[in-house]
Amino acid sequence: MKKLFIKTYGCQMNVYDSARMADVLASLGYAPTATAEDADMVILNTCHIREKAAEKVFSELGRLKPLKARKEKRGEKLLLAVAGCVAQAEGDEILARAPHVDIVIGPQTYHRLPELVARVAREGAAVLDTEFPAEPKFDFLPAAAHGAGVSAFLSIQEGCDKFCTFCVVPYTRGAEISRPVADVQSEARQLVTHGAREITLLGQNVNAYHGSAADGASWGLGRLIRTLATIEGLLRIRYTTSHPLDMDDELVTTHRDVPQLMPFLHLPVQSGSDRVLKAMNRRYRVDDYRRAIERLRRARADIALSSDFIVGFPGENDAEFEDTMTLVAEVGFAQAFSFKYSRRPGTPASLLPDQVPEDVKAERLERLQGLLADQQRQFNAAAVGATMPVLFEKPGRHAGQLVGRSPYLQPVHATAPDAFLGCIAPVTIRRTEPNSLSGVLAAEGSA
Ligand code: 5AD
Ligand code: SF4
Repeated sequence: MKKLFIKTYGCQMNVYDSARMADVLASLGYAPTATAEDADMVILNTCHIREKAAEKVFSELGRLKPLKARKEKRGEKLLLAVAGCVAQAEGDEILARAPHVDIVIGPQTYHRLPELVARVAREGAAVLDTEFPAEPKFDFLPAAAHGAGVSAFLSIQEGCDKFCTFCVVPYTRGAEISRPVADVQSEARQLVTHGAREITLLGQNVNAYHGSAADGASWGLGRLIRTLATIEGLLRIRYTTSHPLDMDDELVTTHRDVPQLMPFLHLPVQSGSDRVLKAMNRRYRVDDYRRAIERLRRARADIALSSDFIVGFPGENDAEFEDTMTLVAEVGFAQAFSFKYSRRPGTPASLLPDQVPEDVKAERLERLQGLLADQQRQFNAAAVGATMPVLFEKPGRHAGQLVGRSPYLQPVHATAPDAFLGCIAPVTIRRTEPNSLSGVLAAEGSA
């Protein structure tokens, strides 16, 4: 058996893709291993969203160079592949800057990995495949074998047609495509058969999902979720990442009607200023976002929210940044991600005048993150004393302890027998830890 080590950067989509690449390479006899030192093949599955993420790849390639040389001296081989969005955007530069790389492969063609591995062996030269093929890769991937965990990812939509002016995704992942309903259903069933009890539906713009169904109609995400909820053994459903514009009524009412759909939603707003949103080409106003939240809260009173923010978008002034702070204070987020604007080559915003100085961005980010961290602490503190359903996923650090997740994705530690793995049980929360909650199994019948 040959050994494969995959290092994954960036979003959950990449986590899913890495698992699928492992599935594809299993057919060539590759089995996963935990370190690059052990491996016959290393794949870096990369992220291009911000400059920092992209630069990490080149540092890692630098670290892998001596390892590859050492192996070659011993007469062994180390096949080195760069996959994902940096590969797509900077394929030629990778081969120029890091000639020890054997394979450069974009996110749309990794079903061709076995073919590329064979080509490298045959030709002894590096190969690059960053095409956007007419046939989506999903049609060529083997059945999912990666769903051994309690919580699994399932990619249902890929690419983006929104063209926010700061974002590389429409260029690295290409145009939006949705997988057909039947494909999603069969992969979901398969994951559940392999032990998954929770499935997170993934897409760069997942709530724009419009998959074709057997009846010839095009189904939205709400309708898809209603169908998936009928799969026996599937206890929880989530989806990420969404665009506020695509929160249609069907999806909102699905939050009301489907108990398996968790009351926790990642809905990136990016900014609290209408002028900045317009310059970002987000296609909604702050009030539209407020209304979307209201509709969701009316449908599901206990829904909690997560979001993404960018500070220091070109031209953002102090007052516009304060508008973001005001919106955060108003909405109240259970958790959120926030970033300094990062200038990405090829995107419209990178050409805008008025780039915001680094120190101003840093100061704004610190203030915003301070507020978001306070809100997260408050949200977690509010759980103390409450009893919540926890889906147990794995053994904890201490003997006899298991770790699971609350409906809001908070990790929860509790003493519980191993038989509870993969099951939902009520836990009364006693304490908040820095990044998790801990509690005790609620007495039977009390929750
Ligand atoms: N600079 C900073 N943050 C960005 N994001 C996307 N592109 C950029 C960029 N150029 C953030 C957005 C998006 C999240 C995945 O990454 O907030 O929602
Ligand atoms: Fe990027 Fe905007 Fe598409 Fe999200 S919606 S992937 S931020 S272009």
